[in-house]
Amino acid sequence: MSRFWSSVVHRLSPYVPGEQPKRDGIIKLNTNENPYGPSPRVLAAIASATDRLRLYPDPRASSLCETIAAHYDVAPEEVFVGNGSDEVLAHTFQALLKHDAPLLFPDITYSFYPVYCGLYGIRYEEVPLDAAMRVQIADFRRPCSAILLPNPNAPTGIGLARETIEALVAEHPNQLVVIDEAYVDFGAESAVSLVARHENLLIVQTLSKSRALAGLRVGFAIGQRPLIEALERVKGSFNSYPLDCLAIAGAVAAIKDDAWFQETRERIIANRESLVHALSELGFEVLPSLANFVFARHRSRGGAHLAAQLRELGVLVRHFQKPRIEDFLRITVGTEDQCSRLIALASGLI
Ligand SMILES: Cc1ncc(COP(=O)(O)O)c(C=O)c1O
Repeated sequence: MSRFWSSVVHRLSPYVPGEQPKRDGIIKLNTNENPYGPSPRVLAAIASATDRLRLYPDPRASSLCETIAAHYDVAPEEVFVGNGSDEVLAHTFQALLKHDAPLLFPDITYSFYPVYCGLYGIRYEEVPLDAAMRVQIADFRRPCSAILLPNPNAPTGIGLARETIEALVAEHPNQLVVIDEAYVDFGAESAVSLVARHENLLIVQTLSKSRALAGLRVGFAIGQRPLIEALERVKGSFNSYPLDCLAIAGAVAAIKDDAWFQETRERIIANRESLVHALSELGFEVLPSLANFVFARHRSRGGAHLAAQLRELGVLVRHFQKPRIEDFLRITVGTEDQCSRLIALASGLI
């Protein structure tokens, strides 16, 4: 604390990211990174972009917006890019989610959402998941300014069908609905195709997970032009160059290498199914995941204790000390080998 702090700093309680260990040899299954790495074409594109480092990058990252637009069959003006989807979300909170009525999001969800509300002074209400940890869209029928949902939800991994998202959007024609599709590529249904017919829908995605570029920091939003214009206004009032020229080049190459994307995500989905099976055999209840992680609790072992024991054995998983979910572990789906080693070590503890 210091007398130089502004009043807003006193009130902030920042997001706590998952641990990034400094030592080697850790089986790192705590932050939902992709174990297979990015396409080799990304590395080549980044290398050849280094001769442009002298220059400022394109402030609008037009080549990336055009590439994303072509891939998702929308107009480039319907795409906004930012420094990770966290930044895209941050601008969304400020540009589109700050109103008099409260913003709604689930009680169990991405823990950055209340942090942004704190930063921007946004009123919010948490809508409880049902007893099976599912989002029930009927529970969102209450006065609000906007709705924010990850699909699949994090950390549960449970997804909603596209038609359910469309029903939610149609039920709230005067509220913005933001769908955070950080994990959508691992088996859920994207709602991007609904953007053309719903002016109140904004989709946020990231290249951190299915395209294995968490370290490059690239995320994007897709929505109708007035929504994108709001995001551009906030961005242009904050940082003109959120994406550097290496990130733009690498992200374009990642989106274009569809073969790599398909192959690696299919491997992760296959590993997830084996991991779910093996954890169930060990006595875990595993929620039905459509993400690159599973959320599981053991019948007789507490989550905090298990996470600490696994850590001692060199395996990092994520544990949240939060009511309703303190017995759960969120386990990122790793390589075949990482998943087998996790299961072998966990079976020694149970
Ligand atoms: C639901 C959800 N949304 C957004 C993000 C942010 O991802 P990034 O900033 O790496 O794009 C995460 C990161 O884990 C997430 O879990």
